[in-house]
Amino acid sequence: MSEMIKIFDTTLRDGEQSPGASMNIEEKIKVAKQLERLGVDVIEAGFAASSPGDFEAIERISQVIKTSTICSLCRAVEKDIWSAAQALKSAQSKRLHIFIATSNIHMEYKLKMKPDEVIKRAVNAIAYAKTLASDIQFSCEDASRSDMGFLKEILTAVVEAGATTLNLPDTVGYALPEEMGKIIAEFSYLTQQGIVLSVHCHDDLGLAVANSIAGVQNGARQVECTINALGERGGNTALEEVVMILKTRKELFNGLDTRITTQEIYPTSKLVADVTGIKPQPNKAIVGQNAFAHESGIHQDGMLKNPQTYEIIKPADVGIIQNNTLVLGKHSGRAAFRDKIKSLGFSVDDEELNKAFERFKVLCDSKKQVFDDDIRAILNEETTHIPQVFALELTQISASSAGKYCAVVSITKDGVAYSDCALGNGSVDSILKSIDRITGITGNLKDYQVESVSSGKDALAKVVVRVVFEANKPAIMGHGIDLDTMSATAKAYVSALNSYLSMKDLLKSSPKENT
Ligand code: KIV
Ligand code: ZN
Repeated sequence: MSEMIKIFDTTLRDGEQSPGASMNIEEKIKVAKQLERLGVDVIEAGFAASSPGDFEAIERISQVIKTSTICSLCRAVEKDIWSAAQALKSAQSKRLHIFIATSNIHMEYKLKMKPDEVIKRAVNAIAYAKTLASDIQFSCEDASRSDMGFLKEILTAVVEAGATTLNLPDTVGYALPEEMGKIIAEFSYLTQQGIVLSVHCHDDLGLAVANSIAGVQNGARQVECTINALGERGGNTALEEVVMILKTRKELFNGLDTRITTQEIYPTSKLVADVTGIKPQPNKAIVGQNAFAHESGIHQDGMLKNPQTYEIIKPADVGIIQNNTLVLGKHSGRAAFRDKIKSLGFSVDDEELNKAFERFKVLCDSKKQVFDDDIRAILNEETTHIPQVFALELTQISASSAGKYCAVVSITKDGVAYSDCALGNGSVDSILKSIDRITGITGNLKDYQVESVSSGKDALAKVVVRVVFEANKPAIMGHGIDLDTMSATAKAYVSALNSYLSMKDLLKSSPKENT
């Protein structure tokens, strides 16, 4: 039997710390369910003590996920550990992840603690955590810039206190692969005591994946990563790259394997890009739009003769279905539509299926070809269960004199329709002002992105907005899709507003603490 590498996904914790990547609770649950389908061993669902929103997300994810271990990050303080244990109560399998910084620069300037105080704090935290759970991970923040002798001292002490996984992060993305490999090799003797060594690398110098692989080659049996390498600054280690390196070059890894269902990689990447509004760059390995595109004539010729000339991974192995055209049309039935949804990696209940099917039929009436990406976009909207306090009914724009635009918008609330109009400097401005007038809530638009979902002049427009509805609170993201760009804009803005209303109480407390 192959020896397994645990895949620890931190998209919902470290990934979410990326600017603009914050997700609402419904979106986090959706991502967690997809991570479970992907087969990750551990889902780090958040940092329970950092905000009521994180606490609730971990609690809700713990209730629905059955096969992956759910984990919460905690500082080495009792209040954080207690809060994490409470949030994880319903998890079938749970892990407490405690961290403290161990480099001289972090201990002196950030923690303002002496090394022996740091050891004491870590040991007390692990001993306390052990009274609440059996699966305990300990991380030495900034391990790659820490003194080796000190690392040895603290790791010995936390193992004695009950830690079962030891993580050695390259927090600032500073290490080279050789150095990372050496750090892991230094502690590989601990694996004989049943300890799992873990790597957690950041990509500031573009070496996160190489460093993680060096860790594996030297005895690490857990890799911490995120989908699409999401993460603050240069990002984290890309899950899809680590998994496909281990699979593609398995002859070099002595039978090491992961439990990842690689065909779920692309659907997971798409989902994370959709909910965060952060798309991988086109040339991103494995999941970028051009990752399997062959432009040069010589390459195309080789590919036609034998795909292995230029292709080291079959696109289908990572879930990319290259014929993106849906072979369904307006005469297709519900059963064929359900099959298509399944092949795209979605699992929907009857109500979601019915709603998506209705929208699909309407789309077939107005669009010549319906693509897989169109279906994905519809499903992403129909499977996000945020209470729809406001629902958009109608948007009409006309250009008026002196360069002004006039928008008429109609919105329903509790089944009652409300309409209003406003003048603005451009169509977006006029629409959003009309919505503000109807709802009585003024949003401050921080970011606006528009792109086509698929190709063709009749492509669906997808709009992503980030809006601040309350001073000193984070921007809330909203999405909208429609054949008409301005209707998509109005939908995105109303969706951000509904999302804000659903989390208003959670936002009341102090701002979220990050690591
Ligand atoms: O980068 C880091 O050191 C972390 C720890 C909290 C694990 O994210
Ligand atoms: Zn990190």
